Amino acid sequence: MRSLISILDFSVEELDQLIATAEDIAAHPEKYWDACKHKKLATLFFEPSTRTRLSFEAAMLELGGSVLGFSEAGSSSAAKGESVADTAKTVSNYADIIAMRHPKEGAPYVASRAATIPVINAGDGSHQHPTQTLADLLTIHRELGRLDNMVIGLCGDLKYGRTVHSLIEAMSRYEGISFVLISPKELMLPDFVRVGMLDKHHIPYTEVTSLEGAIAQLDVLYMTRIQRERFDDPAEYERLKDSYVLTAEKMEAAKKTMAVLHPLPRVNEISVKVDDDPRAAYFRQTHNGKLMRMALILKLLGEAKENPLREAIDTDGWVYDKVCRNPKCIVQTEQELPHAAKMAEGAYRCVYCEQKV
Ligand code: CP
Repeated sequence: MRSLISILDFSVEELDQLIATAEDIAAHPEKYWDACKHKKLATLFFEPSTRTRLSFEAAMLELGGSVLGFSEAGSSSAAKGESVADTAKTVSNYADIIAMRHPKEGAPYVASRAATIPVINAGDGSHQHPTQTLADLLTIHRELGRLDNMVIGLCGDLKYGRTVHSLIEAMSRYEGISFVLISPKELMLPDFVRVGMLDKHHIPYTEVTSLEGAIAQLDVLYMTRIQRERFDDPAEYERLKDSYVLTAEKMEAAKKTMAVLHPLPRVNEISVKVDDDPRAAYFRQTHNGKLMRMALILKLLGEAKENPLREAIDTDGWVYDKVCRNPKCIVQTEQELPHAAKMAEGAYRCVYCEQKV
């Protein structure tokens, strides 16, 4: 039995296979109407969501399955102090697969270690959002006809934007990819992605502050929202919130074939006037998210049927004498969860949130 916690849990071949399955679902939806009959998806959302939760639910319903769950922590026993691990163990008795969103980084990973059914990370704090990346990959493939040999610009909040982290990890494994990282200095890409992925694998990238200066060279422009809910200092958010606004005028300098993606929700970083530009792919991206989540549910339930036992945790190289200081890491709140770290690119990193310890 496998879970999806990081996009690196899947090989490139598996990602390509998910895209092929999603395209087959789009072409022949009737083939899949009963594919998950009598199966149940639990959506455990401890944080707000529109697209991820509803597309997961639509995906399971279109596969003939059923859904149960909650959309806020306050309506679950987390409000009474129940741990993520106990929640996951309990829900394993009611459902066949879990999609979990949580504000604490590493929470879905902890759930996957406790659950006896597959767990999907539907977004953990500022860390990762691998199923958004599945939507992004299908969108890029559909818009450009390939996933290799392109320049990808990522613009906005690269520090707290979890979708950016997972997308870089996914795209870095395709041939001929380079990145232009466009952000204010305060919101640059964190080093667990920059060092741990880009530097480690010698992926070309530049870090710039100007969208106007970069847009002409891009094949994909991935806009992101400044993530207000992750800021400790509201004044800092107010200062940075309008850093980038993509307008129809700025689009004039872009390639005619460039695709504009955004994980959404949008606040003001893309003018609504851009929506009518054929290069604006972000609402098509939301549809692609449902198709890829259907393909993902099929894959994980199929693998669980073949091998119902949870994979053993690989603790090779783990040390237990380093303390994670990231206040947003699940290790700070989960009962009796040991601090654990492993060496990666010259530094010890927490095994739950990947921050240096
Ligand atoms: N892209 C995304 O995660 O959107 P939601 O927060 O609405 O799920």
